[in-house]
Amino acid sequence: MTISVIILAAGKGTRMRSALPKVLQPLAGRPLLGHVVDTAKKLQAKQIITIYGHGGDLVQQAFAAEPIQWVEQAQQLGTGHAVQMALSVLPTEGISLILSGDVPCVTQDTLQRLIAASQETGIGLATLTLEDASGYGRIVRKAGQIQAIVEHKDATAEQRQIQEVNTGLYCVSNAKLHQWLPRLSNDNAQAEYYLTDIFAMALADGMQIASIQPNKAFEVEGVNDRVQLAALERQLQHDQAEQLMRQGVHLIDPTRFDLRGQLEAGQDVRIDINVVIEGHCVFGDGVEIGPGCIIKNSHIAAGSKIQAYSILDQAQVGVAAQIGPFARLRPGTVLSDEVHIGNFVEVKNSKIGLASKANHFTYLGDTDIGADCNIGAGTITCNYDGAHKHRTVIDDQVFIGSNSSLVAPLHIGEGATVGAGSVITHDVEPHALAFERAKQLSKTNYQRPQKAKK
Ligand code: UD1
Ligand code: CA
Repeated sequence: MTISVIILAAGKGTRMRSALPKVLQPLAGRPLLGHVVDTAKKLQAKQIITIYGHGGDLVQQAFAAEPIQWVEQAQQLGTGHAVQMALSVLPTEGISLILSGDVPCVTQDTLQRLIAASQETGIGLATLTLEDASGYGRIVRKAGQIQAIVEHKDATAEQRQIQEVNTGLYCVSNAKLHQWLPRLSNDNAQAEYYLTDIFAMALADGMQIASIQPNKAFEVEGVNDRVQLAALERQLQHDQAEQLMRQGVHLIDPTRFDLRGQLEAGQDVRIDINVVIEGHCVFGDGVEIGPGCIIKNSHIAAGSKIQAYSILDQAQVGVAAQIGPFARLRPGTVLSDEVHIGNFVEVKNSKIGLASKANHFTYLGDTDIGADCNIGAGTITCNYDGAHKHRTVIDDQVFIGSNSSLVAPLHIGEGATVGAGSVITHDVEPHALAFERAKQLSKTNYQRPQKAKK
C-alpha cells in the first residue's frame, strides 16, 4: 500500500504574534513543520504534500532541502478546503495520512498504528479523551461505533459534554478523498469547509471508522501560541530525558536538561544541570558533562570529562580527554585520546594528538599537533594574515613556552622547544630550542616613582 502524507500548514498562527509563520516556530531547535516532515520520512511515504498559505516563500525556503511537494491554499477556507488543494497531486490509489504542521510531536509508532487500523476500514483517525474538551471536535459514538464528528461551535449542549475529541490526525483512502472532498459544503457555524464532514460521507457509504489513541497525550497537542509552544517543548524534552535515563544516562535534574536534536549515549553518562545538547551528538560510556555546557553536533568518546561552561560545536573528542572548564571547541576540532584542553582555550579546525595538553588561555586554529605536546599558557597560533588562513604543524613531543605567538604557515619539528614569550615566524628544526626575545636589561637599585606625600 503506498502512503501519501498530506501536511496542513496554511494557517496563519495569529496568536503567536510573530513575523515568523507558525510552522517555522522552533520547538526544541527544529521548526514545527520540520518535526512533522521528519516523522513522515520515517514512514517511507511515497510523497509528502505540504499545504501552505501564509508566509509561503519563507516556509518553502526553510525546507528547500526536503522532498516536499508544495501545494498552495491561497485562502484559508477550512481544513476540508485545504485537503481539496492536494487532490491535483494525489494518486487515486493508496492511502493518505493527513497531519497538521502545528502538531509536531506525533510519533512514528502512533502513526503506524493509525495506518494499520485505517487500512482495514478505508478511514480512521486518532482521538483523545480530555478533561476539558472545549474547542475541539467531539467524537459521537453509538454502541462504540463512531457516528459523527461535531465541531464545538456546531455541537449541542449534550454533545459538548463528550470528552473524546478529534486530534486532527487522519488516515483515509485516496480513492475516497477524490470522491468525497469535491462534495464538501461550508454550511456550518463557521462557514468553513470542514474536513471532518468526510466522516459522515463514509458512514453514508456504509463504511466503519477506525480510531486509535496516541501512545502519549502530548503527541497530539497542537501549538497555537508561545505558551503552548514552551509547554510542549518541556513535555517533549521530559519524555526524551526519561528515555535517556531508562537507557542508563544519569541526568542530575531532568527538568534542567534541554535536548534540541538527538543524543546517542552510552551507559553511566552523567549530565549535570543546564546543559544544552543540539543537533546529533554521541557520548560514549562514562562521559561526564559539567553544568552549563552547550554541545552541538559533537562526538565525545568514552570516559571523557567536559567541565562546566564549555562549548563544543562539530567537535570530536577521543577517549579519556579532559575539556574545560570554559573551553571552546569549534568546528573541525579533532582531539585524540587523553588530550587536555583547559580554561579559556579555543580550538578551531585543528587536530591534536594523543595526550597533548593546552591547559590555559590559548588559541589553536588551523593547527595539527602531534602526540605528547605541551602548549604553554597564552600560546596563539596566528593563522590569519588578514586575507588567508595558514596552517601550523607541530610534531610529536614539542614544548611551546607560555605566551608564544606561532605565525603560520609554520612547522615545528619533533621534540623541539619554543622559549616563552617568542614570536616564531620560521620553521623550527626537530629537537632545537627556538626563542625570540629582546635582551633583558636590568638597572640595579632602581627607584620607582613615588606619590607626592600629602
Ligand atoms: C480541527 C478539527 C477539529 C479538531 C481540531 C484538532 C476540522 C473542521 N476540525 O479544528 O475537529 O478537534 O482540528 O486541533 O477540521 N489549516 C489549513 N487551512 C485551512 C484551515 C486550517 O491549512 O483553511 C490547517 C491549520 O494551519 C492547522 C490545521 O489545518 O495546521 C488545523 O486547523 P485548525 O484551525 O487548528 O483546526 P480547527 O478547524 O480548529
Ligand atoms: Ca486548532
